[in-house]
Amino acid sequence: MTSTAPVAESLDSGQPGKLPRPRGVLSKAVIEALKRDPSEPTSFPAVPEGVDALGGDVQLALYVCYELHYRGFLGVDDEWEWNTDLLALRAQLERQFLSCIRSSVEAGSDAEADMDEMSVEPRSGTGPSWYLRDRGTWEQMREYLANRSLYHLKEADPHAWAIPRLTGNTKASFVAVEFDEYGAGRADRMHQRLYVEAMHAAGMDTDYLAYIDDALPEMLAIVNLMSLFGLHRSLRGAVVGHFAATEITSSPGAARLVTALSRLDAPPECVHFYAEHVEADAVHEQILRHDVVGSLISEHPELETDVVFGMRALTLVENRFADALMDRWTA
Ligand SMILES: [Fe+2]
Ligand SMILES: [Fe+2]
Repeated sequence: MTSTAPVAESLDSGQPGKLPRPRGVLSKAVIEALKRDPSEPTSFPAVPEGVDALGGDVQLALYVCYELHYRGFLGVDDEWEWNTDLLALRAQLERQFLSCIRSSVEAGSDAEADMDEMSVEPRSGTGPSWYLRDRGTWEQMREYLANRSLYHLKEADPHAWAIPRLTGNTKASFVAVEFDEYGAGRADRMHQRLYVEAMHAAGMDTDYLAYIDDALPEMLAIVNLMSLFGLHRSLRGAVVGHFAATEITSSPGAARLVTALSRLDAPPECVHFYAEHVEADAVHEQILRHDVVGSLISEHPELETDVVFGMRALTLVENRFADALMDRWTA
């Protein structure tokens, strides 16, 4: 497999995505509403107690609500972002999502212990990166890349919401890592851009949100968790823990994907995206551990339980995604 055309600037037009296909009553109500005028009053269905908060319908409805804070949607009025009827619905969805995550994650209060545990790389594993490294097919790799595009095309954006909520050394160090994610001042090195180039080289659709209809509910939950943490000041401890866990666990997984892509003779742009993360995230890990998490906890010890919650919540949603994908591949 070789790379297709030289990558043009136009690969990422900066355009918003198209509205996705609904996955149930709630996502349908949101998607249909967005086609209308936001100045007209809209009544949304109530979110039933005990709804499947991790299921495709709730997760897509939330994803669409959050996307209004990122690029929005083609043909959708930007004023929907602050529509109070929609925000009220989003609050109900978030409450159920957050309580579901909280009840599935064991509470902890020692962030360093969790980070130490995450840093120890197991010798073997059963998730998608292990499978792809050893025997995954190119089709399975593309399915993985398609799912991950929901995050990597907005990589670093969800965590950026946290910046104004932080102060001092925590903030300065957090921004130093984000600066790298955004290409350290060079658009062609932005991780979002590197992913566009990887997808293009793999012969995939590089339009923003191109694969949202194909994404597993578990993948939507991965991105929604970051948006939820980033957009709530009350969850600033969780977003810091989430960012730390992301950076600590990224490097070994990226290394397995480098091996997988090389084994599959994938275009160099695909390998490059993950190779970049092997190196960069080994450095980011250290900054996150000591300068971001360390500083936050020394200044705000009361946030430590939420830092741990953010780390464990990431592990939970990532494990659910890994299990769902492996179920498909090994069925
Ligand atoms: Fe990155
Ligand atoms: Fe990173």
